[in-house]
Amino acid sequence: KNINEIIEQAVNTGRLTKTDVVTLLSSSGEDAAALFAAADGVRKSQMGDEVHLRGLIEFSNYCERNCTYCGLRSSHKDLARYRMEEEEILAVAAAAVPLGYRTVVLQSGEDSYYDAQTVASIVHRLKKELGLVITLSLGERNRDEYKLWKDAGADRYLLKHETADADLYAALHPDMTWERRRQSLLTLRELGYQVGSGCMVGLPGQTLNALAEDLLFLQALDVEMAGIGPFVPNPHTPLAKAEGGTVEMTLKMIAVARLLLPKAHLPATTALGSIDKQGRQKALTGGANVVMPNITPNRYRRMYEIYPNKICLDDNPAHCRNCIGGIIASLGRHVADGPGHSPKDCFSG
Ligand code: SAM
Ligand code: SF4
Ligand code: FES
Repeated sequence: KNINEIIEQAVNTGRLTKTDVVTLLSSSGEDAAALFAAADGVRKSQMGDEVHLRGLIEFSNYCERNCTYCGLRSSHKDLARYRMEEEEILAVAAAAVPLGYRTVVLQSGEDSYYDAQTVASIVHRLKKELGLVITLSLGERNRDEYKLWKDAGADRYLLKHETADADLYAALHPDMTWERRRQSLLTLRELGYQVGSGCMVGLPGQTLNALAEDLLFLQALDVEMAGIGPFVPNPHTPLAKAEGGTVEMTLKMIAVARLLLPKAHLPATTALGSIDKQGRQKALTGGANVVMPNITPNRYRRMYEIYPNKICLDDNPAHCRNCIGGIIASLGRHVADGPGHSPKDCFSG
């Protein structure tokens, strides 16, 4: 099979073997351009020209984990840490409503300071007082906690699987296991969340085969959202000297994800926008249909330093909203005004 036959099969059936995925990820030049064009076509026919905005609130940079790639890891002792309290989170979300946000994503390190009841109260109030759609991204917690938050009104949960290569997962996560990660995702699915997962591209030792497994894992889990971004080496971590992911490979991963998951929400990630000024534009024209602008107050942004040279550190929420609106319009697309749920029947009713 040549590349065009593989692309055609993917567009028509949504199914690919691992070997075919690896072939697509190995493409370059005209072949890669054909892949991006096909992904853009599927995005347009399945998801339309709307781009969904999710306002990201990074409410705490404390983390009890020690992922070797991440600047928030507990061993990074020089990092100044902050936490936002309930009222402050509510105020930040309230300020996002007049900017047109319908969804907020509450994200933090794994920080047990926020007990299950506190998170439930925040979720309940965001829903009741502001009518927002809520995505949580707080890492691994137990089933009862996930259930309490779902019952309090949380709609979605974002927990990237990071890498589906179990050995690589173990090497990157000294205090976590691939099996628990997978189990957490299954629990979220079972509880009725719209599930977001995803991976990093360009991790040290990550093969094309492993990247293909990431995509097939996301397809098997039938995720409602898949966040795929480059790994960006952080100088304050053990992976300081690693190479990092490329723009091209990240774009190919997003494009193949669109072919395998035609109805999933796929963000043009901040990490991609951070390693290439045009990164988000490229993703949006190669399969992506979501952007997650930062709505964290400026005084905290620098401290949520997952990786270096993150964009928007000195920009405020209103500025970022304007900037993103301009990018979307320049591509002939428009910002969605609905809640932006998964188009699957069970969520869109
Ligand atoms: N603590 C929660 C968790 O791990 O799911 C949420 C916050 S964590 C900072 C969010 C995401 O940041 C992770 O899923 C990971 O993919 C990404 N991340 C961490 N370090 C990164 C790096 N150096 N380059 C790119 N992405 C990174
Ligand atoms: Fe903590 Fe998440 Fe960073 Fe891991 S990726 S160190 S869990 S914030
Ligand atoms: Fe923040 Fe462009 S999105 S400045």
